[in-house]
Amino acid sequence: PSRSQLPVSDKKIELHLHLEGAAPPDFIRALAAEKHVDLSGLFDAQGHYAYRGFEEFLRVYEAATSVLQTPRDYARLLAEVLERSADQGVIYTELFVSPEFCGGGDLVAWRDYLAAMTEVADSARGQGIDSRAVLTAIRHFGPERAKRTAICAAETAFDAGGGWVTGFGMGGAEGFGQAADFAWSFDCAREAGLGLTCHAGEWAGPDSIRQALELGCTRIGHGVRAIEDAALMRELSDRQVTLEVCPGSNLALGLYPGWAAHPIARLADAGLRVTVSTDDPPFFHTTMRQEYDRLADAFGWGEAEFLRINQWALDAAFCDAETRDRLR
Ligand code: ADE
Ligand code: ZN
Repeated sequence: PSRSQLPVSDKKIELHLHLEGAAPPDFIRALAAEKHVDLSGLFDAQGHYAYRGFEEFLRVYEAATSVLQTPRDYARLLAEVLERSADQGVIYTELFVSPEFCGGGDLVAWRDYLAAMTEVADSARGQGIDSRAVLTAIRHFGPERAKRTAICAAETAFDAGGGWVTGFGMGGAEGFGQAADFAWSFDCAREAGLGLTCHAGEWAGPDSIRQALELGCTRIGHGVRAIEDAALMRELSDRQVTLEVCPGSNLALGLYPGWAAHPIARLADAGLRVTVSTDDPPFFHTTMRQEYDRLADAFGWGEAEFLRINQWALDAAFCDAETRDRLR
């Protein structure tokens, strides 16, 4: 069938997937063995990533990432991640990639990492999954290091043969500093023509989301705590801001006690543009199919709801109009 005839479950658009956070434990263990690094403390008896709570999650995440040391390691990771996403019926994904982990924020090194990943992304496109990169500053690394990420993003947004880097964002510990501390980086990225998103309204409340809007973001990573503020919900709805909601992530990290308590359906009912992503699937024992299945079970979502969230995701995707039309 042509793409427009495929069922929505085989045309998923994912906007929020951390590349390092998508690394399967087996992949990380194999790299660690190759490099003679002992990472045994990061895994539980079943071989899954072991952590308790968000702070420890970040530490395990960064420790696992430490074995990704070369452009080739990242190329292999990206190939694995895109293949798994395609298996989940994803046809377009935006990967959060952090130059801080790819060459320590150095622009020259970053270009080598980017070249290796762009080659993989180009060949995956031929196999049915398109992708773009959102270069992601790590909030708890501080504003100075964020600037290096913004410079990497701005400098490589228009690289020859590239066009893979189309966005700039920020993740990490939301409690660290104020969003305004990072304004220089968001301004730099915007001036380079990049789309902007920021993790907000996950570990901090509505005010954190307001600050992300001040930075010029058209999308919010998570944003679920908008549910605590009716005026903010109206503003997000009026401005057609898109929320990159990752329900399984929120539940795994203990933000909500269960699916019934998750606000995604209430946000959608209030007119907000919600979308669904997995964030860091192996860490949270989730997949895109599982997210959709749980949403169907918890809220009775079916074809119509999933079609709508995927259209919103495509509307908000940091890609060109031609790609958008091709994927509709
Ligand atoms: N980095 C990877 N996953 C994240 C999350 N859920 N929140 C903030 N930063 C992250
Ligand atoms: Zn995230």
